[in-house]
Amino acid sequence: MRSVLGLLLCVSAASAQAAMAFAAADQTTIVNTMNSLRSRMAKGTEKWVGKGRNYPQSIRTYQLSWAAGLATASVARLNLLDPSQPLSAQSDVLKASDVPFHQGETHYGIYSTSSNAKTTAQMFGTAWNTAWYNFIKKSGLPGPGLVYNSTGVHPDKNKNFAYQIAAGQTRTIGCAYRNFTTGAAAGTFAVLCRYNARGLFDGNPIYPEGVTCSGCAKGNPPATVCVTATGLCA
Ligand SMILES: *[C@@H]1O[C@H](CO)[C@@H](O)[C@H](O)[C@H]1NC(C)=O
Ligand SMILES: *[C@@H]1O[C@H](CO)[C@@H](O)[C@H](O)[C@H]1NC(C)=O
Repeated sequence: MRSVLGLLLCVSAASAQAAMAFAAADQTTIVNTMNSLRSRMAKGTEKWVGKGRNYPQSIRTYQLSWAAGLATASVARLNLLDPSQPLSAQSDVLKASDVPFHQGETHYGIYSTSSNAKTTAQMFGTAWNTAWYNFIKKSGLPGPGLVYNSTGVHPDKNKNFAYQIAAGQTRTIGCAYRNFTTGAAAGTFAVLCRYNARGLFDGNPIYPEGVTCSGCAKGNPPATVCVTATGLCA
């Protein structure tokens, strides 16, 4: 009887803080935030810290759009985390090798944590401003080859995440968050995004350098056209 009760309590505690896909308003914010950066890179207007110039223009950087299936995959991924352990002790739970080969992933909340007294928009904003975009703004991607380092461990993780967000060939994104309210992880949160196609391959340029948009029609099917205002292919 006691173990049945314990199980029920466990189940209800777990479901109270299960991961959720970001809702529509946040989806728009996330996609727009990432596309804004991708646009600035594609047009060569994003400052390249440490290089004394801007990131090179991109021949072909796709405009991201939301994919519900990727958000569902992100939910499942975040639900692998154990609320009874601090997130900082779970750095090996989200194995990169468990992500399908053709997809990419970024996450926040495991290497660095901050208070969960936040709206969902603030949770994404924290991941963006203190980790993902923060790396691009403060450290800058190494280069000029824009080469991904697949062996990177933290703090190289944030470099890999920055590469994934900037990756020209990525077309779709779906993200989820998880708010930990009980157990040793209480008071923290995690955010995770899944990307298709994956942008991270050793030795591949993060996007093809050249005249903005000049390669939109020559990418992988389906063919795209230039969105002149953003310099992205859609
Ligand atoms: C997360 O939980 C905290 C309480 O632990 C609460 O203050 C906050 O509003 C919750 N945020 C979301 C997005 O659920
Ligand atoms: C790749 O990352 C590893 C571990 O973080 C680091 O030791 C190595 O120097 C990096 N290699 C390159 C080429 O940046």
